[in-house]
Amino acid sequence: MESTLYKEAVQFIQEKITIKPKIGLILGSGLGVLTDEMTDCVTIPYETVPHFPRATVEGHAGEWVIGKLSGIDIAVMKGRFHFYEGHHQKQVTFPVRVMKYLGIRNLIVTNAAGGIHPNFSAGDFMLITDHLNLMGTNPLIGPNDDRLGPRFPDMSEVYSLQLRMIAKRAAQDLQIPLQEGVYAAMVGPVYETPAEVRMIATLGGDAVGMSTVPEAIVANHSGLSVLGLSVISNLAAGIQKEKLSHQEVMETAKQVRSNFIQLIKKIVFEIGEKTDENG
Ligand code: HPA
Repeated sequence: MESTLYKEAVQFIQEKITIKPKIGLILGSGLGVLTDEMTDCVTIPYETVPHFPRATVEGHAGEWVIGKLSGIDIAVMKGRFHFYEGHHQKQVTFPVRVMKYLGIRNLIVTNAAGGIHPNFSAGDFMLITDHLNLMGTNPLIGPNDDRLGPRFPDMSEVYSLQLRMIAKRAAQDLQIPLQEGVYAAMVGPVYETPAEVRMIATLGGDAVGMSTVPEAIVANHSGLSVLGLSVISNLAAGIQKEKLSHQEVMETAKQVRSNFIQLIKKIVFEIGEKTDENG
């Protein structure tokens, strides 16, 4: 039943495109501008795709942009679905399964996050090495489709070591500093209290946000290689003196835009080369 829904969405998208992208990219808050760098693109608003929920957050346009970035075929999600919008975890992760059926092998997931590690500053980029699912739920709850992945999937390397190496090398070549750390996912839509931030630090979280983990879990379950990249848009509550606002998150994303675009373009190019070699 469920797989029919994915297939209807996939078929709809496939009828509109001529390429077969192997890389997927989900753009977080304020990062949608990256699609300006793409060529030969087809834009598909989410609301036209069968079974797709609608994006409701400012800074998330809500469309597929499928075309070339750095000369590499790619399917980009400009805007994502969040659990806090009221979507079920299955809806939040629906597009990941769609990407799987589209033939995507490598998924790059980006987000804006609050920095917790004492070495982090607003405007830093953080390569996600692992995550803490603090959402109190899981997108794989419910019957398992064994054709997609196992009932009890291993999560010991959600964020591909190989892709992390590629990202680190790309950042080094571009001389863009790249932090590394554990991303903790909270439900939102509230920002954390200072006590919650201290709790996350104690648990081993280096940055905190309201997305990414459901998508990464489903991607891992489906056998996709995942790369996670956070823009540290602010220091988490209680660490910075000022109050947190979505405005600030968007402002920081804007300031680091050009480095972010350069970094993603290089990573996509390098992954594209690798995928070409391995078929
Ligand atoms: N907390 C949670 N989500 C976020 C933050 C934060 O501080 N900044 C950007 N997204």
